[in-house]
Amino acid sequence: QSGFLSGEERMAVPHVLIFPLPLQGPVNCMLKLAELFCLHQDIHVTFLNSEHIQQRLLNCTDVQIRFKKYPNFKIMTIPDGLPEDNPRTGDQVRNLVKGVEDVSSPLFREMVTSGSLSPNSEKPVTCLLVDGIFPFAVDIAEEIGIPLLYFDTISPCALWTYLCIPKLIEAGEIPFKGNDLDALVNNVPGMEGVIRRRDLPSFCRVPDLDNPTLQFFIKEGKHIFQAQGLIFNTFEGLEGPILSQFRAVCPNIYSVGPLHIHLKKSLSSKCSVPKTSLSNSIWKEDMSCMHWLDEHPKKSVLFVSIGSLATISKAQFLEIWYGLVNSKTRFLWVQRPGSVIGLEENNDVPVELSKSTKERGCIVSWAPQEEVLAHPSVGGFLTHSGWNSTLESIVEGVPMICWPYFVDQQVNSRYVGEVWKLGLDMKDICDRAIVEKMVREMMEVRKIEFLERVREMRNLAIESVNEGGSSYKDLDRLVEDIRLMRI
Ligand code: UDX
Repeated sequence: QSGFLSGEERMAVPHVLIFPLPLQGPVNCMLKLAELFCLHQDIHVTFLNSEHIQQRLLNCTDVQIRFKKYPNFKIMTIPDGLPEDNPRTGDQVRNLVKGVEDVSSPLFREMVTSGSLSPNSEKPVTCLLVDGIFPFAVDIAEEIGIPLLYFDTISPCALWTYLCIPKLIEAGEIPFKGNDLDALVNNVPGMEGVIRRRDLPSFCRVPDLDNPTLQFFIKEGKHIFQAQGLIFNTFEGLEGPILSQFRAVCPNIYSVGPLHIHLKKSLSSKCSVPKTSLSNSIWKEDMSCMHWLDEHPKKSVLFVSIGSLATISKAQFLEIWYGLVNSKTRFLWVQRPGSVIGLEENNDVPVELSKSTKERGCIVSWAPQEEVLAHPSVGGFLTHSGWNSTLESIVEGVPMICWPYFVDQQVNSRYVGEVWKLGLDMKDICDRAIVEKMVREMMEVRKIEFLERVREMRNLAIESVNEGGSSYKDLDRLVEDIRLMRI
């Protein structure tokens, strides 16, 4: 009568609070996981988003309409600690994490300990599912006595290297002795003979151990095993050996990816694929590039994008541009506003580049990436090797040229090139002749070989989210475990 549930009824409502790092990549895949939970009507989901990202999502997507059909879903917002006009580019990630620690985490704590989601509230949270980069969640979960799940949205292979850093330091492998970045790294179990110094996360390239970025990432590793489980956006067919390494130290792993295709599959099996797009973009997508793609032969276009955080110098920008133009390949290039340092002040571009681009290229400020990669005319992806981009490319059977920018991307690109053989790793090189050579190699010389190899991996990805597949079963287990979690 009063609108309050009795103690028994209250215990019967599984309620997950999802709290991502407020950046495009983590928000994108956590929203997908949130929607997968919402398909189970008995599970309630509260998504804790930063005010900044929420506003941008509302401006750029149909997310509000899409989630309206789920009465069990709610979004709450929280400040991220950065001034509104502060860019959220790659060089700001540490500031952002600090902002979340200083400003968002006390509010989050209050919300779940004594506020609207606390054990005494009408609909208490029964499980915290937070970004693996938030160590403060361990104490908060303990304080209110509810289970904590970490979701690390980077690849397990990259996270594994983060966790091995103390070992690498102890063995004297970090800081590097000498300048040979091609020397093999010996103390990352399971990666012997694969990982070179240059393939370690970018923050390992520091002259001394006091480096704040290195220290920041060492800290990231320590807490994740204190959670009741660890969720990954990956699949067994891709990262089985690394997942086994994780299971040896953290038995409760849920490997539920690729989440974007897992969601599409689940929606289609429930006959509820929405007419609106499934995009969680925080930039407005320029759909005109889809018409441009329609005009070109199958597998003839190279898609070029460096994701939502990376920035490049004008000199690098021009090297890539010359390389693309000289390769004579058709290309669709995402030039995100602010991604080329100094371009806004001086945007003269050599005439020969503009002319050739008019003939063979298309430039947009943000694209519907999942749809672009799924388009039949796209035959390659020059990518910064962000984890979402890597999975999206695999799922659409598109080989990659990897040009990693920072942190996890150095590891991802090595795996793409050397272990999974899904493309070429151009790491640490930005030279027009090499860009041209690699584009030709992937789009012409070794085209069939790469397409076949990626097709095999794509099939494994699809199998994993089909009924009975490894990611399907892990998601099922995760949902069951959430149902059993109690305050
Ligand atoms: C960040 C890190 O850089 C990445 O390494 C980490 O794995 C996750 O967080 P980001 O750099 O943005 O993310 O890369 P990525 O993970 O690839 O995510 C980019 C997302 O933006 C993808 O889902 C992609 O589909 C989307 N995107 C990108 C678009 O929708 N349109 C575009 O034009 C470009």
